[in-house]
Amino acid sequence: MAGLTLKNIKKNYTKDVCVIKGVDLEIKDGEFVVFVGPSGCGKSTMMRMIAGLEEITSGELYIGDTLSNDIHASKRGIAMVFQSYALYPHMSVYDNMAFALKLAGTPKAEIDQRVKKAAEILQMTHLLERKPKALSGGQRQRVAIGRAIVRNPKVFLFDEPLSNLDAALRLNMRVELSKLHQELKTTMLYVTHDQVEAMTLADRIVVFNAGIVQQVGSPLEMYENPSNLFVASFLGSPKMNLFESQLVGLEQGSAVVRLPKGITVRASVDAGRAKVGDKVTIGIRPEHIELCAEGDAEGIPARVDLTEHLGDIVLAYIEIPGINEIICMKLPANMTGLKYGDAIRVKFPESQCMLFDAEGLAFKRLKK
Ligand SMILES: Nc1ncnc2c1ncn2[C@@H]1O[C@H](COP(=O)(O)OP(=O)(O)O)[C@@H](O)[C@H]1O
Ligand SMILES: [Mg+2]
Repeated sequence: MAGLTLKNIKKNYTKDVCVIKGVDLEIKDGEFVVFVGPSGCGKSTMMRMIAGLEEITSGELYIGDTLSNDIHASKRGIAMVFQSYALYPHMSVYDNMAFALKLAGTPKAEIDQRVKKAAEILQMTHLLERKPKALSGGQRQRVAIGRAIVRNPKVFLFDEPLSNLDAALRLNMRVELSKLHQELKTTMLYVTHDQVEAMTLADRIVVFNAGIVQQVGSPLEMYENPSNLFVASFLGSPKMNLFESQLVGLEQGSAVVRLPKGITVRASVDAGRAKVGDKVTIGIRPEHIELCAEGDAEGIPARVDLTEHLGDIVLAYIEIPGINEIICMKLPANMTGLKYGDAIRVKFPESQCMLFDAEGLAFKRLKK
């Protein structure tokens, strides 16, 4: 087992196109770290450089204490599982899992012991003699993970391993991966674009955009205190509501901002580095917008545009006169009476509002 240290890692595929622009990251031994970011931001490139499948243009990669830039992929002690599992169709599950060990000249008895142990962990013992074509998608993916486990790697790399599976199977596999990590306690790096996978699997999440790390932190830390607008709108589904606004007042422990049509909202943040008149963006997550009770004269008048009943919750898309953005509210399931055209009033609780400066950097939230 080993941690990883990345020091100013850069990657150019061609001379003038830099896809990884200097990444510093410390991954502790045994940690489960999830990489998220939009398509094309460099997640797979990072994984492939760590695995040794892609050359590192500059910077240093340490696996444990060993500088590993020039160590061959097969000698790094890293196993990678991809989205496409590419099993050998003519080989049994057993042989698929044993293949890399055979190539490495591992003694037969040890191969047998490792394959059987991995099969046990993955609850596949009864499938060992089958060929891949007689397996379901989820079972095939488990064989691919088994192939990685038998190698006893110091680090596992998973690049969107579940994206080919349907939703129910993805959930099962997610739970299994979590258990696998608890059991093996091996360092795991995991790429996904699935919010829930990221939030549930990760000890820490790394958000990438355009080859740059935007923020690193525990899932809840990132959700509650995104450091910038990119992270704020990337994590969370439906995403955070954001409104361009203007700072009109600075008070002890809160910032007063004005939205169009003179609507004022407060945010419990330390906006000391800003000044009145600055352009800012205020953000509030769908679950934090409050619906005022009927007859409540306070709150901001709004109109319901659309409701989506998801069984456990209701999503209401609302419009506030003068504000262009469509606003999403997440409400309890018993709000099924809400319908198109309803006039409502809503509140943005001060303690739940986040505030970002003109560059998109968050102001520090103050707990009340
Ligand atoms: N072999 C390659 N040659 C040239 N450009 C590449 C190669 N692989 C990836 N890229 C480019 O590098 C960028 C990052 O790609 P990738 O790491 O696959 O992103 P992600 O996995 O986050 O979707 C993209 O712009 C992609 O087009
Ligand atoms: Mg990728």
